[in-house]
Amino acid sequence: MITTFEHNPDLRSQVGEIASILRQSDHTVAMTGAGMSVESGIPPFSGTDGLWTKYGTPPMDGYSRFRKDPIGWWNRRTNEKIDAHIMELRDALKNARPHAGHFALAGMVQIGALNSVITQNIDGLDEKAGVDKLFEIHGNRQKLRCVDCNDRVLLADVVPLFAPDPCGVCGGLVKFDTVMFGEPIPEDVMRSARAEIDRADCVIAIGTSATVRPASGLLWIAKAAGATMIEINPSETKLTSLCELSLRSTAGLALPALLEALTDT
Ligand code: APR
Repeated sequence: MITTFEHNPDLRSQVGEIASILRQSDHTVAMTGAGMSVESGIPPFSGTDGLWTKYGTPPMDGYSRFRKDPIGWWNRRTNEKIDAHIMELRDALKNARPHAGHFALAGMVQIGALNSVITQNIDGLDEKAGVDKLFEIHGNRQKLRCVDCNDRVLLADVVPLFAPDPCGVCGGLVKFDTVMFGEPIPEDVMRSARAEIDRADCVIAIGTSATVRPASGLLWIAKAAGATMIEINPSETKLTSLCELSLRSTAGLALPALLEALTDT
């Protein structure tokens, strides 16, 4: 059971330890996953309430099917002939707002305790909360992207009704910025995320099962290079055994407590 920090001296002391590791680190990077947005009402993918647990794992060849027939792909989408798990996710995304944990992450970047945030989430909530130095390695649901030159266009909340026009910059094929199964992570964002990981002497993994590659691979690269690994997750993950400290709490409870500990004089 998750308890709040006021009533749990062990959690409070662990938060203090994390704050002290962060103060001593030169370059700290946070890597967030679906668990980061659970308290904003967006379901995760794995675990008991996960979309893949509920609906099954989606086919792994989404990107190649899109490339073979992009117009057909958009037509199927706009006719609502789309997977149930995408419909549920789309509804949750429509209503989602950043929670206290997202704002605390933004605050930690602002005070220099965190150098950057790499997120696997497509919900755009980190940006809405004001997180600077953000790398959305699985893209952003509110943007379109050219597969050739990576030019991105903001859609806001409008979902296109037709296949979008070719890229205004290079004439290339345009798709949602969201990275599909089988699609390589766009080179520009992957290069920046990798550079952050290479500089990091401390990495905090928040709300990720650390199972989806290549994103999760960045965590193992950081560990192999000697970074101190910290985890914030209510459950044990594949990463737990690599971590100096695993805080068994939620992002919405732990991150505001961590920001408070960091700003306590
Ligand atoms: N706070 C923190 N962590 C939480 C919370 C919470 N409130 N609720 C659940 N979690 C944890 C779970 O215990 C789990 O370890 O978040 C993790 C979510 O794991 P996944 O659903 O597997 O999400 P993620 O690690 O992000 O991997 C899925 O693959 O297809 C892509 O785009 C997709 O980015 C997504 C990734």
